Amino acid sequence: MKASLSVKIGKLKLKNPVMVASGTFGYADEFKDFVNLKKLGAIVTKTITLKPRKGNLPPRTCETPLGMLNSIGLENPGLEAFLKDKIPFLRTLKVPVIMSIASVEDPAEFIELAKKLNTIEAIDALELNLSCPNIVNKRKLISQDCEATYKTVSLIRKATKKTLITKLSPNVTCISDIAKAAESAGSDALALINTFSAMSIDVERRIPKLKVITGGLSGPAIRPVALKMVWEAYNNIKIPIIGMGGIIDTVSALEFIIAGATAISIGTANFINPKISVEVIDGLYGYLKRKHIASIQELIGSLKA
Ligand SMILES: Cc1cc2nc3c(=O)[nH]c(=O)nc-3n(C[C@H](O)[C@H](O)[C@H](O)COP(=O)(O)O)c2cc1C
Repeated sequence: MKASLSVKIGKLKLKNPVMVASGTFGYADEFKDFVNLKKLGAIVTKTITLKPRKGNLPPRTCETPLGMLNSIGLENPGLEAFLKDKIPFLRTLKVPVIMSIASVEDPAEFIELAKKLNTIEAIDALELNLSCPNIVNKRKLISQDCEATYKTVSLIRKATKKTLITKLSPNVTCISDIAKAAESAGSDALALINTFSAMSIDVERRIPKLKVITGGLSGPAIRPVALKMVWEAYNNIKIPIIGMGGIIDTVSALEFIIAGATAISIGTANFINPKISVEVIDGLYGYLKRKHIASIQELIGSLKA
């Protein structure tokens, strides 16, 4: 009998724990010619705000050792266009759709988004992006403060019955404190982690490589830190964690699951190999078979330490 990869995140039942991370897979239609999208555990969309956003000026990506910087700044078509233009394709896939949402200026927008989406059947869960480091002039993120995290998640919890996933920032002193705040406010799961605030300089011209100077660091460079944050959060909360940060293959996905992630998300690696998520799904089956493990659930948090 084939081993089971199925896991549960809130009310969501996933056939496997492999997702694609917000902002690195567009709205999935961009990848349809390269990937069998129906195989994915879930699709997390690029973050959507109430109104359309142009994002930051270019250049807004650059390579770094074992990773990349981005300062996209939440470019997106806005809620209305998303529902009209992107949802119809996503609906055809019959794969759970996790919609990432954010409010940039006014936290009340979060509530409005959550209320409007509560009755949209094609959306299976909401991921609250409380952690985008690329908003110019924003000095503090919601997820850098326990009270603000608690307050925001509580208000959104009241506005929707959908599964709520709170995405946290690694740019904090104690990830467990923020994780606990999101959990006690009613979040069904956590997504760990968003990118690290970072920068890079062109020394010939003595200019920043990103127009807005700083951006978010992602890719394998951040993996050991991301892994430690997932492990730390796992030991302090009871709700499931979606682990991410530098996953590029089956082994790195397994690291997160063994550290305590119920599911994993693949981001930057999609730009190198668009098929990577499906390859990791096959790789997880292979690992379970080789180790004679019946279900992936036996592996979650199974670190022997
Ligand atoms: C180009 C780019 C755009 C991103 N956009 C978003 C976004 O819109 N919303 C969000 O929550 N995270 C966004 N992220 C963060 C990723 O979802 C992920 O949390 C992070 O990159 C760590 O995973 P990785 O190392 O596998 O890329 C973005 C990352 C990249 C590289």
